[in-house]
Amino acid sequence: MSENGKESTWVNHPPRVKLQDWNLPSVSPIFQAAKFSVDSLQGWNERLAKARESGEEVFLYSRISNPTVRELELLLSKLQGSEDTLALGSGMAAISATLIALLSPGDELILFRESYQPSRTIARTLLSRFGIRHRFFSISRLDECEAALQSPLPNGGKRLIFFEGITNPVCRVADVGRLTALAQKINAMTLLDGTFTGVHQLRETQVDLILHSLTKYASGHGDVTAGAVLGSKVLIDKIRETAILLGATLDPHAAFLIMRGLKTYPLRYTAQSKSAERVARFLESHVGVSQVFYPGLEKDPGHLLARTQLNEMGGMLAIELKNQSAEEFVSRLKLFSFTVSLGATESLATPVLPLYGCDLSESEKRESSIHEKVVRLSIGLEDTEDLIADLAQALGTS
Ligand SMILES: Cc1ncc(COP(=O)(O)O)c(C=O)c1O
Repeated sequence: MSENGKESTWVNHPPRVKLQDWNLPSVSPIFQAAKFSVDSLQGWNERLAKARESGEEVFLYSRISNPTVRELELLLSKLQGSEDTLALGSGMAAISATLIALLSPGDELILFRESYQPSRTIARTLLSRFGIRHRFFSISRLDECEAALQSPLPNGGKRLIFFEGITNPVCRVADVGRLTALAQKINAMTLLDGTFTGVHQLRETQVDLILHSLTKYASGHGDVTAGAVLGSKVLIDKIRETAILLGATLDPHAAFLIMRGLKTYPLRYTAQSKSAERVARFLESHVGVSQVFYPGLEKDPGHLLARTQLNEMGGMLAIELKNQSAEEFVSRLKLFSFTVSLGATESLATPVLPLYGCDLSESEKRESSIHEKVVRLSIGLEDTEDLIADLAQALGTS
């Protein structure tokens, strides 16, 4: 470019600082760029093929891939012990891109009534429109699921079993070993939503894919939405192709914030798990609470299973109130914010029925414990005694 160019021309071509391999910043920079230029288009295809063969990353357009987002993907693969990872703009983007990529008309999605409500909705609405069937079971009654899936689908249709490690909102524990054994027997794929269990647990399972809403514990500060799906390179490549076409891309700045959040993730997850257990023990012994749903409690039906599958039980729990509605109780809380989402540093309280149960029949609501007296709590990093005092006053004992 000419030295005498006009300002409007040279601001588009700022001088570049070239970093040496031996003199890198201690924190990776954010590659906040939509596109990456190449010096020449000549031989581009051969260069691309060569780079891919040697495992080097090549970047052209950030909807397709971006160095900051790729660093996050590599980090998540390490944490969860998977061959590859695809990061996307939200947990729902991870769910929808995965299901759209892997299912075709005539295939069947197997889901559980206790799961995150938008996961049920995607089956009922979007996937149904494209001829993908679905069936719901209870995560607490896998024998019914096993019995119903013995017969193959017509015309060679495939099945995909989609379940949560710990379910949102009322913390039922999935028997991961039993579900993967069933899947192997009937030649189905498995997709595990690990949002509640975090990005460091359930590594040793035989599931084909694990996904997470990174909006929650991974980023941890409630300032970003993101999701990821992890598994073999072959499967992730397939989902990536669909995600690129859907434009379900994660922004590099969001990827940077998640990597920053991940630096404190193990500490936060452990502290939140410990605090949640103390809160659960307090609530368990309170007269105003008829049931506590927390797999860390010995009385919880999922306790033994959780002990074999998980090292930490997480910061999520739910309670069934004896004498007041979920909405009354939540409105009395002072330290817990009344909102959706979870896994951030602040504690949150959510009545489960209006937010997660509207699509269920009356009997399904009762069976899944998603009803008007149940509140989901996400335990943050406040002092545990302060949280207990707040819950006590909202229950009417102080
Ligand atoms: C279990 C579970 N899966 C998926 C999602 C969707 O994640 P996002 O809100 O990042 O789209 C959520 C959100 O709450 C969730 O709880």
